Amino acid sequence: MPTNSIDSLLHENRRFPPAAEFSAQSTAKPSIYDDAKADRIGFWADQARELLHWHKPFTETLDWSNAPFARWFADGELNVAYNCLDRHVLAGNGDRVAIHWEGEPGDSRSITYAELTAEVKRAANVLKGLGIRQGDRVAVYMPVIPEAVVAMLAIARLGAVHSVVFGGFSSESLRSRIDDADAKLVITADGGWRKGKVFPLKTAVDGALENGTSTVEHVLVVKRGENDVEWIEGRDLWWHDELAKADAEHEAEGFEAENPLFILYTSGTTGKPKGILHTSGGYLTQVASTHRNVFDLHPETDVYWCTADVGWITGHSYVVYGPLANGATQVLYEGTPDTPHPGRWWELIQKYRVSIFYTAPTAIRSFMKLGRSIPDTFDLSSIRLLGSVGEPINPEAWIWYRDVIGAGATPIVDTWWQTETGGIMISALPGITTLKPGSAQVPIPGIKIDILGEDGTRVDPPQGGLLVVSEPWPAMLRGIWGDPERFRETYWTRFSSGNTWKYFAGDGAHVDSDGDIVLLGRVDDVMNVSGHRLSTQEIESALVSHPIVAEAAVVGAADEATGQAVVAFVILRSDQESAQTVEEASTLLRAHVSQQIGAIARPRQVFVVAELPKTRSGKIMRRLLQDVAEGRELGDTTTLTDTTVMQIITGQVK
Ligand code: WT7
Repeated sequence: MPTNSIDSLLHENRRFPPAAEFSAQSTAKPSIYDDAKADRIGFWADQARELLHWHKPFTETLDWSNAPFARWFADGELNVAYNCLDRHVLAGNGDRVAIHWEGEPGDSRSITYAELTAEVKRAANVLKGLGIRQGDRVAVYMPVIPEAVVAMLAIARLGAVHSVVFGGFSSESLRSRIDDADAKLVITADGGWRKGKVFPLKTAVDGALENGTSTVEHVLVVKRGENDVEWIEGRDLWWHDELAKADAEHEAEGFEAENPLFILYTSGTTGKPKGILHTSGGYLTQVASTHRNVFDLHPETDVYWCTADVGWITGHSYVVYGPLANGATQVLYEGTPDTPHPGRWWELIQKYRVSIFYTAPTAIRSFMKLGRSIPDTFDLSSIRLLGSVGEPINPEAWIWYRDVIGAGATPIVDTWWQTETGGIMISALPGITTLKPGSAQVPIPGIKIDILGEDGTRVDPPQGGLLVVSEPWPAMLRGIWGDPERFRETYWTRFSSGNTWKYFAGDGAHVDSDGDIVLLGRVDDVMNVSGHRLSTQEIESALVSHPIVAEAAVVGAADEATGQAVVAFVILRSDQESAQTVEEASTLLRAHVSQQIGAIARPRQVFVVAELPKTRSGKIMRRLLQDVAEGRELGDTTTLTDTTVMQIITGQVK
């Protein structure tokens, strides 16, 4: 549901044109918009040729004849890892630092492009020795350590497919992802550091493989946490042992541009998480191009830091593939922003002289709450560009970000995109665009976005509607793993007709009188909690899987810190009602969701109620429950079977 409101935006009228010095040195020149407009397909072909190394050049840019299944650069061949590694070394940049890694406890390593390349070659040989071939799926379940990046690139180097599962997901979530993709290998670590403690990843992997029915043959384990782990001889292997034995040479072979690169699971409105499939050439083109132009990257001098975990799409596109394809130097940090002290991030910016910083509004708001005195004690003068991603950034947070982190002068790019889009789709270009707080503003060059009314016609600005992508784009998802029908159904049925295909993003948006786009949040049953996507239905399923629950309804309620928060309403089974107090049941169920899905899905509140509001056709009216959860006056209740239900619920919640 919309988390941004037009009214609050109207209170911020300041506009920020780019400084003359910034524009003068900008990688993107204003002509980029005209070039892309004059020949959209040709623009992407040029980007692909300029930014990437092709083992075999492509002759055809886009094949849309089998829409909505796109093929970009299909007769070209490339190796994604070679593009991120070897070619920088061959160009004489082997001594450039690729990654300044900082562990949460304070240990650190700086790794050059030459070193990273050497490590990936060894890892690729290890995987090859374990039988991994082009097209095989490998699950990666790791903390944010350099080996996570090495693992992803080694998989890509072999033309195999990674499925990275965020380390905060439960054993159960990991199991369903491993099974859905039929992974042959899992790469994990003994543990990782988070909030001053080691979280046990290997144990979760053991749990996920427990029933012995999976296709996993081996588990490769990085030693990070120094904690004890159980060991299954023959199945489990230490990463360091295997790498030490491996051949140091590995030649990167070219694979067709449409060779699958990765699957990344994300929540949808219905059913289990969808395995979003991305391929190689188009994906790498768009992430490299947007990383360069949106972040105004000067790889020789910039130090870039994106705070995302590699387990999310932001980590894939703007920690691993975009920055490394561009030969950037970046910071990678394992832990949480407040460990061991609340100024940890600012300390790292000062230490590494970070010049480009990319994070999420939820983090910015939590720093705002702590006050500016913390960042003010650090030297943040190296920063010249700030970025935001994951949810709408409210103008207050935008202004604070610019004033406090950006010394009142730094441009901010608010980047809208999704797991499915692969790369940034809507954003200002910092050397060109006059910035408007609270608005992601304009499609990037080469991307066609429209805001449509319910009837499918373009809305007249200023007006709100639904956001669609009207032309195929290079980094677009190529499908949902194993479910082509669900792919069509989810994204392409709402506004497509005949030969016109429009991708429905699931977001509401307003277009203002300047034509700038303001994102208003999801219009479906998908919640956005701290920039992470959660499905109401998935959490409801987790709740009803508990023996004490008869029925459950989940809503996303507006939350000052996290954007939205998970609020659940449950009916207990009649034989359970007196077995425990309401508080006990609530605590139990919050823990249960956490154990089933992961801590990010744990409800802020679980209310035990006697009934749920339903329409005559039996549909739960979540809208009304959201009103209750947000403490608002109830909306229209006339379609309810029993209108007194809401009074009872409101009473119980109070
Ligand atoms: C959903 C996608 C893209 C990486 C992180 C999330 C919301 C994302 C913005 C933004 C307003 C945004 C949308 C979108 N979203 N960025 N700058 N302004 N909303 O990826 O988990 O696939 O979620 O996040 O609602 O649909 P994701």
